[in-house]
Amino acid sequence: MIFLNKTNVSRFQKEYVEKCKSLLPDMYPGCRPTYRIQNEGCQMNSLQTESIAAIMDEMGYQKIESEEADAVIYNTCTVRENANQKIFGHLGHLKSIKRSRPGMKIILFGCMMQEPHVVEKIRKVYPFVDLVFGTHNLHKFPELFYTVLTTNDQIIDIWQESNEIVEGMPASRKYPFKTGVNVMFGCNNFCSYCIVPYVRGREKSREPQAIIEEIKSLVADGVKEVMLLGQNVNSYGKTLENPISFAQLLGQIEEIEGLKRIRFMTSHPKDLSDELIEAMAKSKKICHHLHLPLQSGSSRILKEMNRRYDKEKYLGLVEKIRTAIPDISLTTDIIVGFPGETEEDFLETLEVVEKSDYDTAFTFIYSKRTGTPAASMPDQVPEDVVKERFGRLLALVQENGRKASSRFTGTVKEILVEEESKEKGILTGRTEHNLLVHFPGDVSLIGKFVNVSLDTCKGFYYFGHMV
Ligand code: SAH
Ligand code: SF4
Ligand code: F3S
Repeated sequence: MIFLNKTNVSRFQKEYVEKCKSLLPDMYPGCRPTYRIQNEGCQMNSLQTESIAAIMDEMGYQKIESEEADAVIYNTCTVRENANQKIFGHLGHLKSIKRSRPGMKIILFGCMMQEPHVVEKIRKVYPFVDLVFGTHNLHKFPELFYTVLTTNDQIIDIWQESNEIVEGMPASRKYPFKTGVNVMFGCNNFCSYCIVPYVRGREKSREPQAIIEEIKSLVADGVKEVMLLGQNVNSYGKTLENPISFAQLLGQIEEIEGLKRIRFMTSHPKDLSDELIEAMAKSKKICHHLHLPLQSGSSRILKEMNRRYDKEKYLGLVEKIRTAIPDISLTTDIIVGFPGETEEDFLETLEVVEKSDYDTAFTFIYSKRTGTPAASMPDQVPEDVVKERFGRLLALVQENGRKASSRFTGTVKEILVEEESKEKGILTGRTEHNLLVHFPGDVSLIGKFVNVSLDTCKGFYYFGHMV
């Protein structure tokens, strides 16, 4: 576990971490209490899950995979309705477990908890939940948890917004050699279908110095690859007292000795600058992979979505990137069935997919989010029509993805080895293009870079051998 720069906030945390720690021996005599933590949603959520896990570890809890734990913690997502349904499903299950384990603590936090109707439902229907907090007060977790340990009340603490960025949160990383790093929080774009700006608040960039210091200490701790995270990294730095661009930030990160690979997501097409493309093309560390969400190929729908680019601008960007970085791996997100989407609109999405040669596209069925402008738009597309379109899109995306990702067959690429695959003696890792590669090797190579010949493409991964 690492405490980065020790601000007032982390000192404040520490105090409550110690207080909780001192309660546990009497509460759980002769044994170490256990916790289970589960993450839903995006990589930014995962980082917050890692922070809460690190605090639980520090308090003396032991992490387990079973829900029969002394504390069960969910970091929630609400980007689509099925994410919400999943959490309510889990709560039904936890209710019966808690009946036989009354001392068990159930904790919910994250994006879904920023929605008042969700909190209201938890208050009324799930009184056995012990603690609910949101996305803006994560640093208060030790204090909130202390209250949970010392009372029997349901504790709910949701902040509507926060102007501060809390530095110095601890993290318990999944991999010792690669990790995500937040460069900004929140979103100002208000795409008309999206709930994120309402539950994550306004866009806030971290000071470049804080990011650099964090990455330096991560590198000192064994990290070789970082993924810089933000809802729209291309607008990084605009609101800082001394504004800097994302490309300039990348330039500073590139200088960090010992860091080998830099990734970032997500890039919003409306803000993707020539400066950034140039920085990627000349960099030795920035991976040749760009996630560039399309959402729809129809300019009319893009306007309704408030994306602030059109089909031509998007295709122009794709061309520009491919000219500057010919081996780039492009990936994307697409929504099917946005209100008012006609067959013609949908065919334009298929056309852009054909032309863009994505390695992977994440496809989503439009989900109505209460409170967003799209939720009250007329002409919501009937479910059967959406499902039929979704099937067609998926088939195309998979076929094109297989073709696009097989383009490296027979070449040798540098792989960062991540883990042993399900099969003993077979390792898996990724190329800078984010393509998965399996090959025979010893587990001592995990966390190292090795050169692998990509012998056969198996659709979405390669099988190869070390050279
Ligand atoms: N900030 C990122 C996206 C974050 S959400 C960006 O702008 O690209 C991740 C993806 O979820 C989005 O790209 C979008 O494709 C999808 N998504 C968001 N809201 C959705 C909704 N209401 N229904 C279906 N998919 C949605
Ligand atoms: Fe949502 Fe749009 Fe912000 Fe992405 S840019 S998080 S899709 S509002
Ligand atoms: Fe979900 Fe929140 Fe991320 S809604 S996608 S976890 S920002």
